[in-house]
Amino acid sequence: MNNFYKNKKVFITGHTGFKGGWLTEILSLWGADICGYSLPADGEDNFFNALNIEKKCKSIIADLRDEKALQTALVNFAPDIIFHLAAQPIVRTSYEIPVETFVVNTIGTANLLQALRNVEKRCEAVLITTDKVYKNREDGSAYMEDDALGGYDPYSASKAAAEIVIESFMLSFFNPEQFEKHKKSIVSVRAGNVIGGGDWSKYRLLPDMMKAMNSGTPVVLRNPFSIRPWQHVLEPLYGYLLVGKKQYENPFSVANSYNFGPNPEDVLTVEDVAKTGGIPYEIALDADAPHEAKLLQLDISLAKNNLGWQPHLSAKEAIENTTAWYKAYYAHQDMEHFTKKQIEEYFDRSHGIRQ
Ligand SMILES: NC(=O)c1ccc[n+]([C@@H]2O[C@H](COP(=O)([O-])OP(=O)(O)OC[C@H]3O[C@@H](n4cnc5c(N)ncnc54)[C@H](O)[C@@H]3O)[C@@H](O)[C@H]2O)c1
Repeated sequence: MNNFYKNKKVFITGHTGFKGGWLTEILSLWGADICGYSLPADGEDNFFNALNIEKKCKSIIADLRDEKALQTALVNFAPDIIFHLAAQPIVRTSYEIPVETFVVNTIGTANLLQALRNVEKRCEAVLITTDKVYKNREDGSAYMEDDALGGYDPYSASKAAAEIVIESFMLSFFNPEQFEKHKKSIVSVRAGNVIGGGDWSKYRLLPDMMKAMNSGTPVVLRNPFSIRPWQHVLEPLYGYLLVGKKQYENPFSVANSYNFGPNPEDVLTVEDVAKTGGIPYEIALDADAPHEAKLLQLDISLAKNNLGWQPHLSAKEAIENTTAWYKAYYAHQDMEHFTKKQIEEYFDRSHGIRQ
């Protein structure tokens, strides 16, 4: 894959964030020509600054809601491949700012796809939504790509709505039957709870655990019994990169959407994760907390069978890699070197680099 991405023009929305930062770092190591488009990096600690991401791409700080700025950035850069990650990604925050969450996540995706219509060359887009786009029956079954969409909280609903926008643009403007005319193909990708170094977001378990570890206090668990498909950030990114490569090589060989999640044995409760991380914790059930899904599992057979993708890190290894990253960060180690090592070890192990 590294040879494929060398010198490719890649447009990444969300490059100042956690997953987009890791993706920019990988593609920069592989010699891609990258343009990032996002709001400024958040907070005192962030992956963007820790890894000097600004120096590794053409970094545009702008809003997805600004249709004109987005279109100018996209058309001027004229990418080969787009990875769309920018979003308001937090369920709890979506209860605080529901309308903004819908505008950024749903209309922002429509703005990007509308801008893509004006790119006058062959271009592929990998659009990142979430495992939470499925109508959650909470009955223990694992969702497949063609299961019904839905969303209880505004975040999940905004991403399910983004899926409908994506399908509508695919049918209306990027229909595979007219590929020779528009030369575009778009795919949505759905991953579960992603963990890894460099995430300091509010209301997320691993960042809360790592902050607690650094301050020597126990982490407070709000939903200790919730079951989530935990996976290291490199796992879905490997999947997204594989989709980008495969659809570029043959736009008719990929499906409309893919799930990327862990193997069933790595679907753990929140309390299991805290125990595995060895971080002291306290349980504080909050009866007034807004609703969050308790059980969420993904069926990953399509990605396995169609892309040859599979998870390479157990939940335990994912938690260990994450904890090691933060320990190195708080010990002021060289984080570019440390992160590069984690990336190289992962791709050596997954053979992804040779795919
Ligand atoms: N982290 C997870 O566990 C997880 C799980 C499933 C899906 N996702 C999805 O992956 C993507 C990346 O998530 P993340 O964890 O890296 O989030 P993050 O909060 O770390 O990053 C979000 C990025 O979006 C940008 N952004 C937000 N609003 C914007 C706007 N109005 N205009 C331009 N840029 C804007 C931010 O600047 C940032 O770069 C999101 O689409 C999210 O929904 C994440």
